Amino acid sequence: MSPKITVTTHPLAQHLVSNLRDARTAPAQFRNFSDLLTVILALEATHDLALQTISVDTPLETMDGNYLASGIVVVPILRAGLGMLQPILNLFPDVSVGYIGLARDHTTAMASAYYEKLPNLRESPNRPVLIVDPMLATGGSACQAIDAVKSAGGIDIRLVCVVAAPEGVEAVNASHPDVPIFSAALDRELNDVKYILPGLGDFGDRLFGTL
Ligand code: PRP
Ligand code: URA
Repeated sequence: MSPKITVTTHPLAQHLVSNLRDARTAPAQFRNFSDLLTVILALEATHDLALQTISVDTPLETMDGNYLASGIVVVPILRAGLGMLQPILNLFPDVSVGYIGLARDHTTAMASAYYEKLPNLRESPNRPVLIVDPMLATGGSACQAIDAVKSAGGIDIRLVCVVAAPEGVEAVNASHPDVPIFSAALDRELNDVKYILPGLGDFGDRLFGTL
């Protein structure tokens, strides 16, 4: 079965992801490109948010205005997902933030959890939850994060990443077929240490200057 993923076709998104891939891009520029790309991805992932109609007085007359019907929840996967948080906070007027800390073991590429703080999603289960993590490699981290958000009561969950590997998309599609994936790129494959090819290297290290 072919992987189920929405890859944004916006030319600016393609321009930005190519700049992120460039090994000469320094952390300050990398953060800037990442911020801009996150805005495009977040808009794509929320294109179907529900609206409510409320009367609004313009300077000339009264009309039915369209307003967002509910807030959203954003859950960055630490550490690299933190880089995608602020642009989403800037975009949406009502955002709750949850955090999931996961780190991949360098030899096994298995993710282990070291932190979790999620809002009570049962109180308003239909609020869309954006899980943000720039790299979807094996899919191990994303699947664990989705499990955690579902355990906290999340129902409408969307995964937003910058670069995805087919292996990771298939893993998420298989374990969580209800979770749509939005990405700026679907790359070729993983290498033998589970890095994405052609990829962009280690997103967290490039974002935070820890190479
Ligand atoms: C990276 C990335 C994802 C994960 C993807 O994080 O940000 O969370 O790897 O790999 P997977 O799909 O195979 O699970 P990493 O664990 O390197 O930590 P970091 O965010 O702290 O750099
Ligand atoms: N995490 C990254 O930062 N890059 C990859 O290619 C895979 C996992």
